[in-house]
Amino acid sequence: MNLRKIVIAIDGYSACGKSTTAKLVASILGYKYIDTGAMYRAVTLYFLEHHISLTNPKEIARALEQIHVSFKVNTHNVSETYLNGLNVEKEIRKMKISNHVSQVSALKEVRTAMVEQQRRMGKERGVVMDGRDIGTVVFPNAELKLFMTADMMVRATRRQQELMEKGQLVELDKVIENIEQRDLLDTTRAESPLRKADDATVIDTTFVSIDEQVDEAVRLAVTKILTP
Ligand code: DC
Repeated sequence: MNLRKIVIAIDGYSACGKSTTAKLVASILGYKYIDTGAMYRAVTLYFLEHHISLTNPKEIARALEQIHVSFKVNTHNVSETYLNGLNVEKEIRKMKISNHVSQVSALKEVRTAMVEQQRRMGKERGVVMDGRDIGTVVFPNAELKLFMTADMMVRATRRQQELMEKGQLVELDKVIENIEQRDLLDTTRAESPLRKADDATVIDTTFVSIDEQVDEAVRLAVTKILTP
């Protein structure tokens, strides 16, 4: 049976389990997974390393021409982020990047460049893309749109645990501060702020296990795939 391929857009606040869900849904459906947050994180890493001034549009435009972000699946079948051919997966998850990424991703030039790449990456469909503006800006015609949310304490403890597993010990207060700050910047910026698309289904992950989130997302996706 030749099933049609759809675009699944997963948006929501920081640390609500978007990427975990998106990765597993993509793997179950045999779809490509694109972590758009990782793209903004890679741009942030480049900007920090090259001391790019966030108030100089010419410098920003020149820098963006030098940046190529890509994804490669490693031997454990996990997608990793590459910046100009270098594996930066570990580097971009550090708090230093988390503390600057919302300022960089608010820049119009940065968004225009990333949205263009994201549309190219998803043009064959058969893709699960997670971020903040996928259902509203990148793929407003996505067949399935999910909007994930969760209680702050749950989000912060999950993120702290994730960081700990990567060898980074960060106090809970610092994690909460970072998430609150990013939520604020992401929802109030002028360029494509984070908001729920009118036709998105909300998934609140506060009391829900990963398996349950994924089951629900796959169920919704299969319904869309089978309903032309
Ligand atoms: O998903 P994440 O936490 O790794 O994303 C990092 C930051 O990138 C997030 O704070 C906001 C920004 N972002 C964005 O502006 N648009 C997207 N589509 C994805 C992420």
